[in-house]
Amino acid sequence: MIIDSPSAMLEAGRAFATTLNGGEIVTLSGGLGAGKTLFCKGVLEGLGYLGDAPSPTFNIMNNYAPPDTRLPVIHADLYRLNSPDELEELGMLDSGEANSICLIEWPEQGGNAFAHARFRITIAVIDENSRKLTIEENS
Ligand SMILES: Nc1ncnc2c1ncn2[C@@H]1O[C@H](COP(=O)(O)OP(=O)(O)O)[C@@H](O)[C@H]1O
Ligand SMILES: [Mg+2]
Repeated sequence: MIIDSPSAMLEAGRAFATTLNGGEIVTLSGGLGAGKTLFCKGVLEGLGYLGDAPSPTFNIMNNYAPPDTRLPVIHADLYRLNSPDELEELGMLDSGEANSICLIEWPEQGGNAFAHARFRITIAVIDENSRKLTIEENS
């Protein structure tokens, strides 16, 4: 699907959020500035978050929980991970609830930890304001 503006990417995230019931792992692949974080902000909005969700670029992981969001969410950006082993140290998977939705930017940095993700999202830059968004669902 072609997304032709930042606001359309937010809207795509909001729409995607309606398909989530809790517990899904969602990976987001695409280069720096592709729009992964913007899509995640849309997902968080769709889950009822009213604030401006910050990018987890520096702290690697941001957690959200009811009542701020309808379901608990872990939003991670693994760009700064030096090795997949650091996932353990982060305690990421222990930090949420069984029904946490995990939004993972740069999943490649986690080795094969997210190979079983329910949704694999890929964002490719077409030009300054256009992106190609692909959502692949694994059963
Ligand atoms: N169609 C679009 N979809 C998403 N982002 C876009 C689009 N067009 C321009 N942009 C810009 O690209 C940047 C995407 O940033 P961000 O979401 O932080 O990327 P990433 O998390 O993939 O590094 C933002 O500055 C946004 O305004
Ligand atoms: Mg990002």
